[in-house]
Amino acid sequence: MPTILEVNNLVTRFYTLDGVVHAVNGVSFHLEEGETLAIVGESGSGKSVTMMSILGLIPSPPGKIESGEAYLYDGYERRDLLKMSDAELREIRGGQIGFVFQDPISSLNPVLTIGEQIAESLVRHLGLSREEARDRTIELLDLVGIPDPKARYRNYPHQFSGGMRQRVMIAIAIACGPKIVIADEPTTALDVTIQAQIVELFLRLQKELGMAIIWITHDLAVVSGLADRVLVMYGGRVAEVAPVDDLYEQPRHPYTVGLLGALPRLDSRESRRLVSIQGAPPDLLIPLKHCPFAWRCEYAFDRCWEEIPTLQPAGLNRKVACFYDLERGKPRHD
Ligand SMILES: Nc1ncnc2c1ncn2[C@@H]1O[C@H](COP(=O)(O)OP(=O)(O)OP(=O)(O)O)[C@@H](O)[C@H]1O
Ligand SMILES: [Mg+2]
Repeated sequence: MPTILEVNNLVTRFYTLDGVVHAVNGVSFHLEEGETLAIVGESGSGKSVTMMSILGLIPSPPGKIESGEAYLYDGYERRDLLKMSDAELREIRGGQIGFVFQDPISSLNPVLTIGEQIAESLVRHLGLSREEARDRTIELLDLVGIPDPKARYRNYPHQFSGGMRQRVMIAIAIACGPKIVIADEPTTALDVTIQAQIVELFLRLQKELGMAIIWITHDLAVVSGLADRVLVMYGGRVAEVAPVDDLYEQPRHPYTVGLLGALPRLDSRESRRLVSIQGAPPDLLIPLKHCPFAWRCEYAFDRCWEEIPTLQPAGLNRKVACFYDLERGKPRHD
């Protein structure tokens, strides 16, 4: 599939009173049309900051995108999101790129009805008339599984349950027919049965509308049912990226091995969640000169303490940032 989004060497820092937080340190990845890319990694690994950087939502100050490119493709044309003005980015957000965050209540305006909030986006991005926007909004509410959409149009956010609010957020995200939807832990605040319904809803919408999805999560069970490829982040860097089955069958980064609990077997992946790995993630206030995972890694050798591994091809459609070759059980020579 053609590439729709290409991020190269993204570096984002926060200049705080405590010092410089090295939140994202040269992240590169691509997203293909219609695919689902899951992003996993411990808390603080830079998943949200990466997405916020692409969407132009980094608070500045204290945040600053130091370098990088984030190309959004439209056929053969491409535009760098990191070079766009605020006005252009507002057009993109909710237009070509929809997004859904963890907490729907803080993302919705409490004094506007649900219907008005969705319709507003349609008027602004697609130039629909008020009546057209209203009709389309009711269709959208129906599409995301909200019962009695005509009556619900006039309700305020507080009149919806958590799961229903998240459906509203999804309706807003897909309203303008985006090519990409970024979902940042969209089910974390919901209970397990509702989580499963929201995942189902995403799968159905993707089938019907064909958009690409970036899905950030801690839940590896969700990933296995949802993603085409998985990107593993650690310390503001990409540790590994691979097609989902390959990653579960044969993780190539010791951190991924740790995340999966042990060298995993494919048949038991359904019940697997991220397990905690001994030791703490790197202190992002200190710029690193060696592998960020070295002090937690049982395979670390001299080189891992001397330089930072960069992301290198490791098999078909796979990349890994590690000097140790887990498959062969010895250091890589490159
Ligand atoms: N506004 C900010 N000011 C200072 N530091 C920030 C700010 N926003 C994020 N950071 C820091 O950037 C780093 C990466 O944070 P980020 O939110 O991307 O992590 P994450 O991978 O999304 O974690 P989680 O799984 O908890 O959501 C963290 O160390 C965080 O404290
Ligand atoms: Mg986050």
